[in-house]
Amino acid sequence: MSSSGTYSLMVHGGAGALDNVKDDKTAFRYLDSIRTVLEHGRQVMELGGSALQAVEACAMLLEDDPVFNAGCGSVLNENGKVELDAAIMDGRDLAAGAVAAVDNIANPVQLARLVMTESEHVMLIAEGAMRFADHCGMERVPEDYFYTPDRVEQLRMARLRHKVMLDHDDSEIDSEDQKYGTIGAVARDSQGNLAAATSTGGIVNKRMGRVGDSPIVGAGVYADNETCAVSATGFGEDFMRSVIAKTISDFMLMQGMDGIKASAAGIEYFKRKVNGRGGVIVIDNAGNCAGDFTTKKMIHGWIEKGGQAYCRF
Ligand code: GLY
Repeated sequence: MSSSGTYSLMVHGGAGALDNVKDDKTAFRYLDSIRTVLEHGRQVMELGGSALQAVEACAMLLEDDPVFNAGCGSVLNENGKVELDAAIMDGRDLAAGAVAAVDNIANPVQLARLVMTESEHVMLIAEGAMRFADHCGMERVPEDYFYTPDRVEQLRMARLRHKVMLDHDDSEIDSEDQKYGTIGAVARDSQGNLAAATSTGGIVNKRMGRVGDSPIVGAGVYADNETCAVSATGFGEDFMRSVIAKTISDFMLMQGMDGIKASAAGIEYFKRKVNGRGGVIVIDNAGNCAGDFTTKKMIHGWIEKGGQAYCRF
């Protein structure tokens, strides 16, 4: 089958040192989740679903898994609260929707999709986004939906050290607190359409009101049928300064690279310009999959051109 008739799908669950993944059981827990999500996405696309439907479905499943830093597993800010960011983008027409600093929403990526399809806007934040969620009839979940003992302990450690922490921090903090990750999904469907979604609780002990790269089009998320779909994970400030998702797309558009070369070139630029910490998953318009990162590891998996699923750190 030619690549024009096949689908490709990639997901990630965060980047960092992942030093806590010292045993097979922990590794299996992550990889099993990634594999389950990929197979769900495969079903969506084999049943005729679009790339957009596949990335939303995959992102929601990852948001619902407490091992990842998004949705119910989100990290806590300086006030011990969650503030969630998410975005989704449709490569057919560059339509995009994003939310930032929302709470009490189980699946922020779903709200981002509603911003894209049901509002005139690209991004809504905080109280305005919550009012829009009410307007759309989205259920609010109670605060304790988000508080896991691990999250509370992780915030305590970050406060003790007077620092913010990446979800899977490359720091000396050594415990279960490093086992969570920002999530993302990118897809190309059999029609050749691309889509991307990213969702996160951000970084541990972040200032109230801090927004990262995940909901910023061109930084943490991007999709353009002419080039590629990208989802990023890592220190948001680094991605925002280097506008990395759009930069990777531009390497394809302006320098004629394929997605594999563009992803590598983007990560080289990210490292060289801002000493960036994190990684990206990329699917190009031919269905090629690429995952590159500057951290020790990135939890990710892919199905390339309808083939078997692969998962790795
Ligand atoms: N990359 C997620 C964040 O920095 O918020």
